[in-house]
Amino acid sequence: MRLSVIGCGYLGAVHAASMAELGHDVIGVEVDEAKAARLAKGEVPFYEPGFEELLKRSLGSGRLAFTTDFEQAAGAQVHFLCVGTPQKRSEYGADLRFVESAVESLIGVLSPGELVAGKSTVPVGTAALLADMIEDKVPDAMLAWNPEFLREGLAVKDTLEPDRLVYGLPDGEAGPVARALLDEVYSSIVSRGTPQVVTDYQTAEMVKTAANSFLATKISFINAMAELCEATGADVKQLADAIGYDDRIGRKFLNAGLGFGGGCLPKDIRAFMARAGELGADQALTFLREVDNINMRRRIRMVELARQVCDDSLLGKRVAVLGAAFKPNSDDIRDSPALNVAAQLQLQGAVVRVADPAAVENCRKTWPQLDYADSPEEAAERADLVLLLTEWQQYRDLDPVAFGKVVKRKSVLDGRNALNRESWEAAGWSYRALGRRA
Ligand code: UGA
Repeated sequence: MRLSVIGCGYLGAVHAASMAELGHDVIGVEVDEAKAARLAKGEVPFYEPGFEELLKRSLGSGRLAFTTDFEQAAGAQVHFLCVGTPQKRSEYGADLRFVESAVESLIGVLSPGELVAGKSTVPVGTAALLADMIEDKVPDAMLAWNPEFLREGLAVKDTLEPDRLVYGLPDGEAGPVARALLDEVYSSIVSRGTPQVVTDYQTAEMVKTAANSFLATKISFINAMAELCEATGADVKQLADAIGYDDRIGRKFLNAGLGFGGGCLPKDIRAFMARAGELGADQALTFLREVDNINMRRRIRMVELARQVCDDSLLGKRVAVLGAAFKPNSDDIRDSPALNVAAQLQLQGAVVRVADPAAVENCRKTWPQLDYADSPEEAAERADLVLLLTEWQQYRDLDPVAFGKVVKRKSVLDGRNALNRESWEAAGWSYRALGRRA
């Protein structure tokens, strides 16, 4: 099939290359000239394991190209909308400017019988508005909502082997036609027996925000338990293991620590609350306000704990921060809990040095006030305190004996409950973690 992908950020670039991998001819349309040029050369503008190989393979096959010119999307049977929906600057709602302008540009090249398939995360009700915009100008073109659930760090696998396919289809005769087009796009995924949920626009839009809200709630639930564990002397890691064995609960996303960040979970729960308010259903989601509050409190608690173990004053204390990305296997620092904590420590007078295997370049641009090191050892040189804030595998694997030789004081705070406590204590470290006994 001929496909276009509008917006080649994280989601769009991975989607475009993956669709070419499935055998389709794909044109990626990206308004940022520099980004389009880099992608066309096979250069990946972000850190994503396995993506560079996929991109190069797809470009090499001749089935994938990138352009800044919307005209080149003309003639595609399906146009995927993959532009961003960031949080508005002054309020919690989602900023739909990019989605609206993408649809306006697309309308100029759209022909009857073609399908626009929305993948961006949007407030419920958006698809119906976009469908009206399209219907006004190109009456026989169609819109479907087909949310994406990829995780950074696992984006390629999540796109090519998704847990489920969700289609929000238009009413009436267009519904089955749109469905057939999507089934053709994803034929190899469908034929593998991947579950499909075929539904209306509103449900499809809500599936995405509901899924992210549930994940955020699960994380905040265990972090609320961590607060109680700290108050009672209980151990949140054992608690998570024990409740996680119940397969109605499940152990995944019950890792207590610094909480969630990134470009999705925080903004999506806030946009969901804002939308519920607009719909007069704000009470249904007030619990998400608490989910957000619990999450933000973990950062404050981490700073408090750091001050406590530094004899109640951070002034002049050398603190090594291991990890800056919002999670491992990513160079994304949007709403990163690690950076937030590092900045707070610095504000309280600590001499902070941050290391991260992938995110330092991004950090230098956005947070130039912090000091960065090229390795964990360099960050920890003569440190009074070491903080593990993003659980990269190489940090989990640090040898506490060798690492103990570079610091001034063997004191470690495990913000992600990721280190092997016994081996660090055996090497003479004082070990503290969120939600666990001193
Ligand atoms: C999230 C969802 O997991 C994806 O399904 C969704 O498609 C994506 O948002 C999106 O909306 O595009 P992502 O933001 O890449 O994906 O990251 P997650 O793996 O969900 O992690 C989010 C945050 O939660 C990270 O900061 C991570 O450190 C934290 N986390 C995760 C915990 O604190 N504890 C856990 O047990 C799990």
